[in-house]
Amino acid sequence: PPAGEDARLLARLAEEISREAGEMLLAKRPARPEVLATKSSPTDVVTALDQAAEELIRDRIRRTRPGDAILGEEGGSTGEGRVRWIVDPIDGTVNFMYGLPEWAVSVGVEVDGEVVAGVVNVVPRGEVFTAVKGEGAWLAGERLRCTTGVSLDRALIATGFGYGAGRRAVQARVLAHVLPRVRDIRRGGSAASDLCSVAAGRVDGYYERGPQYWDHAAGGLIAAEAGARIGGLGGRRPNPDLTICAAPGLFEELHDLLAPLDPERDD
Ligand code: IPD
Ligand code: CA
Ligand code: CA
Ligand code: CA
Repeated sequence: PPAGEDARLLARLAEEISREAGEMLLAKRPARPEVLATKSSPTDVVTALDQAAEELIRDRIRRTRPGDAILGEEGGSTGEGRVRWIVDPIDGTVNFMYGLPEWAVSVGVEVDGEVVAGVVNVVPRGEVFTAVKGEGAWLAGERLRCTTGVSLDRALIATGFGYGAGRRAVQARVLAHVLPRVRDIRRGGSAASDLCSVAAGRVDGYYERGPQYWDHAAGGLIAAEAGARIGGLGGRRPNPDLTICAAPGLFEELHDLLAPLDPERDD
């Protein structure tokens, strides 16, 4: 870890905070959470608890480490500092609304622009995935390893359909091209949890058009520390145009399948 900051300590704090937020969310979740507002599209919803959870997380960070910067989905970017917290208070809000058991509190911690600690708490399942840069990815005391040596035609691939106006048609086109070439597709509804599924070998790979930094900051480190590669097209970093994650080998196969599909073309 970069000098002066202990990535393990940051990971421990991120875990504590994500557990506290998860407990609050479980305790306060109404039978059918109300949509407070929609953002880029009718699927892109916010509930009062997305905001409350981010407030809780920000409050805890400020109290323990007042000098740190924070980027959160609901509250945007605040503060400046070598350490920056990347927060998605509820990843999988649509699942949260409908009572489906796959949503997560995602907390990543950057030091000097590099994610060195990541925690994804998949609250309804009681699974807390953690990773420290260079020290592996873990779930309940077990070291995680992604699958290796799986060819595309035998691969179970998780995907998401990132929100944002005009994305759906191109996502459908891409899916029509991918589905016949893989074992099967899963659309879990939480990008952070999808990346942890790659880390745990529960799926072989993941791709999505549309994910934001807070969706993959923590999960991306967890997957990488479990042996997966995460990135965009042509050696780019993971980005909203396209984010791909899988073991080396399958990563390249997925990449080469997706690259000619012109993800820039929306209609
Ligand atoms: C969304 C989920 C979903 C993914 C979208 C994300 P949110 O996050 O991760 O699985 O497909 O790209 O925006 O809005 O529920 O935090
Ligand atoms: Ca959202
Ligand atoms: Ca999210
Ligand atoms: Ca969210």
